[in-house]
Amino acid sequence: MAVLVSQIKLNDLFDSALAETAQRIMPLAVVEILNREDITQPQNIMSFAAHDEQLVYLVRDNLGKILLQSHNAEPTDFNQTLLEGFSSSTTHRFYGAWAVQNSLHIEVAELLIDRKEAIIELALSFLWPLLLLVPLCLSGTWILVRYSLRYIIAYRKSIESRGSGDLSPVNVNGLPTEILATAESVNNLLERLRRALEAERSFTANSAHELRTPIAIALAQIQRLQQEVPTGKARERAINVESSLRKLSDLSEKLMQLAKAEGGGLLSTEKHDLISLLKLIVDDKKRSSATSGLVIDMTLPKSGVFMSTIDPDAFAILVQNLLDNAIKHGTKNQPVVVGFSEQGELSIVNAAEVVPEEPLKQLRRRFVRANTSVQGSGLGLAIADAIATGIGASMTFNSP
Ligand SMILES: Nc1ncnc2c1ncn2[C@@H]1O[C@H](COP(=O)(O)OP(=O)(O)OP(=O)(O)O)[C@@H](O)[C@H]1O
Ligand SMILES: [Mg+2]
Repeated sequence: MAVLVSQIKLNDLFDSALAETAQRIMPLAVVEILNREDITQPQNIMSFAAHDEQLVYLVRDNLGKILLQSHNAEPTDFNQTLLEGFSSSTTHRFYGAWAVQNSLHIEVAELLIDRKEAIIELALSFLWPLLLLVPLCLSGTWILVRYSLRYIIAYRKSIESRGSGDLSPVNVNGLPTEILATAESVNNLLERLRRALEAERSFTANSAHELRTPIAIALAQIQRLQQEVPTGKARERAINVESSLRKLSDLSEKLMQLAKAEGGGLLSTEKHDLISLLKLIVDDKKRSSATSGLVIDMTLPKSGVFMSTIDPDAFAILVQNLLDNAIKHGTKNQPVVVGFSEQGELSIVNAAEVVPEEPLKQLRRRFVRANTSVQGSGLGLAIADAIATGIGASMTFNSP
């Protein structure tokens, strides 16, 4: 826009200078021509020194015969008809005027290229600072926006970096007022959520814990009763009651594990060696099921140690549940292979009937079971999943 406006204004100025020049030269030319002895002889104006002429002119009589011309003037460049006022050719801008009762005509010409150069120089002088200013403005804006968003970025990072179990309030210091209210509401919501989850967990843990003693007492009583009643229907019933009580005991144990798995504290501040822990658990399992001819193979990394901040109790619960499953749901008389890789990948493999893809996806949900012929509550994999999520690990099932 600036270049366009300048161009129009410059053209006006150049035009008026052109007209003014023509009118100034005309009287001088008239005097000069009339003072000649032979008016009809054309004459070149001598230049004082060689110079580039921006303006050239031609004085002609009314028949078009040249009477006077500036030293650089090229008659073919000029209009061949004698015009009055402004006109243009492809290369020149002209101004023509008549004098001495329309007997003498002057035409002043100016190269159009001069005007174009002027406009181009003008446009460039606008453009250079812009080339510098535009990136400066952009980067300045970017820095400014980034600077004013720094607390929001810190807020985002603190939300991103927390684990799924962390429901503590997020630091809202320095947040702009526009989102401060939202951030505070989010904190209130987190607090309510934390309290609700806490209440649920402590209720599960407490009730499971409270159930332990009465169940243990009932078990002891029923075992004594079994000895006391004579063989027959009554003893059978007592045996059934015992098995129900054992299921109940297992269930309360699993509920307690689930409460722990879903609570915090799955990571400890110190590092522990997971491999020695794994060996301990596997040896324990081997010993407790020595009579059944169970074979557990282990493939461990060469280094023999794997230090991790995972809470040893949580790791033990995880491994126990997975190992129990492998023993319980695996084909009998087939070895179970427990592996631990250099990268900390735990794998437990057992032979079993293929579990189709659809049920396989659902197994980690609470109380979901695929193989109903074996006893169980369907909580084992839910516990394992809660622990894996809580420690930031991932768990996958493959069958086969
Ligand atoms: N290693 C495995 N091999 C074959 N099937 C398995 C294996 N682990 C789990 N499953 C299947 O997934 C189901 C869910 O397992 P989950 O551990 O959650 O429950 P459960 O073992 O039946 O009962 P719980 O562990 O609570 O006593 C099992 O019923 C079984 O059908
Ligand atoms: Mg299980």
